[in-house]
Amino acid sequence: DCMTSRNIIKLPGFIDVHVHVREPGATYKEDFASCTAAALAGGITMICAMPNTNPPVIDRASYDYASALAGVSARCDYALFMGASSSNFDTVSEVAPQAAALKMYLNQTFSTLTLDDMTIWQKHLQNWPKKMPVCAHAEREKTGAVILMASLLDRPIHICHVARKEEILIIKSAKERGLKVTCEVCPHHLFLSTSDIDDIGQGRAEVRPVLFSPEDQAELWKNIDIIDVFATDHAPHSVQEKNSEKPPPGFPGLETILPLLLNAVHEGRLTLEDLINKFHRNPRKIFNLPEQPNTYVEVDMDYEWTIPQAMEFSKSKWTPFAGMQV
Ligand code: NCD
Ligand code: ZN
Ligand code: ZN
Ligand code: ZN
Repeated sequence: DCMTSRNIIKLPGFIDVHVHVREPGATYKEDFASCTAAALAGGITMICAMPNTNPPVIDRASYDYASALAGVSARCDYALFMGASSSNFDTVSEVAPQAAALKMYLNQTFSTLTLDDMTIWQKHLQNWPKKMPVCAHAEREKTGAVILMASLLDRPIHICHVARKEEILIIKSAKERGLKVTCEVCPHHLFLSTSDIDDIGQGRAEVRPVLFSPEDQAELWKNIDIIDVFATDHAPHSVQEKNSEKPPPGFPGLETILPLLLNAVHEGRLTLEDLINKFHRNPRKIFNLPEQPNTYVEVDMDYEWTIPQAMEFSKSKWTPFAGMQV
């Protein structure tokens, strides 16, 4: 019967270092209450919130504003990113002691904070405290460029949402050389590729970095030992926006990441140690986050579930993983 078929294991509270909460500025997409409800429903007990909000979190005043909103309605632990802008390189580090990390956007994406000028990157990399992480949205040749610049300045750099073969291979080479680089990969780049776009729908499948070929996807799995962190890049947009003529890029992910990763454990593509390292221990180490005492997740490893069309708690009422059996 169902009692004897249960196979309950206890896991640590998971830490997602890449979450777009959308508050302030776009609370119809998500807010601290809905986002952290989704996190907890997904086994995530701590999130790091991205700064590409409206207003963006780029100085003391915008940090205090976002922090006050989070304080009122967050249901789990959180830390807030500071955003690197073209003009805040002399002031943003004042907030470093309270922040999760500094975020630099080096490519065009759903953000007003894109940095084109490499002399600005340099100022940010110099001024942000070396003991604290700098995270970069840095695709293709920008991956190599920002790793080199951080290395010349002898400071660590964390590469967000690695998705291409060329990106994981340059990070592998940099690590072999002893450079202080860490990286994260998202579930949609591990479990989806261009071959899934027809099923998801062209517009809904918009995401940055985009979905790549099955060959790129296979290269991420081949180099799983190079990947330090699993993070969702939970980027909720309304289902109306995703179905529109000009859909904004981004996928919700908080409520589906753990079942997808546990399914990979079930299939023998990942060990439970890998899961705990990349989704709890390494995020905590890289981002200097505190332990959460008496915080854990229980999972029935024998329970089968088909991912539905939309999840319960995120306001983003769709998922690119609909129909997947986990
Ligand atoms: C993110 C968003 O919507 O904020 N979108 C995305 O496609 N990943 C921005 C980002 O993480 O680049
Ligand atoms: Zn990004
Ligand atoms: Zn993101
Ligand atoms: Zn722990």
